[in-house]
Amino acid sequence: MTGLFITFEGGDGVGKTTQAALLQDWLEQTGHTVVRTREPGGTEVGVLIRDIVLHHRGEVSPRAEALLYAADRAHHVASVVRPALERGDVVIQDRYLDSSVAYQGAGRVLDPDEVRRLSLWATGDLLPDVTILLDLDHEAARARLDADDKPFDRLESEQAAFHDRVRDAFLALAAAEPDRFVVVDASQDAADIAASIRRHVGSRLA
Ligand code: TYD
Repeated sequence: MTGLFITFEGGDGVGKTTQAALLQDWLEQTGHTVVRTREPGGTEVGVLIRDIVLHHRGEVSPRAEALLYAADRAHHVASVVRPALERGDVVIQDRYLDSSVAYQGAGRVLDPDEVRRLSLWATGDLLPDVTILLDLDHEAARARLDADDKPFDRLESEQAAFHDRVRDAFLALAAAEPDRFVVVDASQDAADIAASIRRHVGSRLA
């Protein structure tokens, strides 16, 4: 595969969507073909799965939730991500398997290694070339979400302790794979964050 697979990770409200859009603009201006997508919900099937995992009102058992995210991912990689990478495009994706390890693992019920293996099986072992982790403490992220005025989905409504575990899990993943991850302090100005992301991505493209 000749394309470049870039994922954005981090807790809710850290600014992934804004930064993914800024990176897309920059890459397109410099002549790259970009596919910007997200999980869950990057395909038609994925939109249906997204509705279950984020908006279903009753309990979803932890293994079922992990399988739903993995099912979304399997279909998304097969129908969107791999074909784009095979064409030589740059794929910018909001969330990928690290979100499953951090979120489904942070519920403490599932073993993070098992969650990771499930995603690797689902995707035929596709790992990103670059993963940008936007790191922000829970209070600051929460303040941004409050300012957004959108109702909270199931995962955003979890307790602060859960979000602290998610953040720690992401940082541990980044420490374990320093070649793939770039950790960016998401409390900076959006323009400064974008500049730092451009530096890292630019050096990967060079
Ligand atoms: P996201 O699309 O970033 O939310 P929003 O559109 O509100 O910004 O993510 C939706 C939620 O799904 C988020 O709380 C994290 C969670 N999630 C998991 O728990 N596991 C996963 O594998 C993925 C991809 C997301």
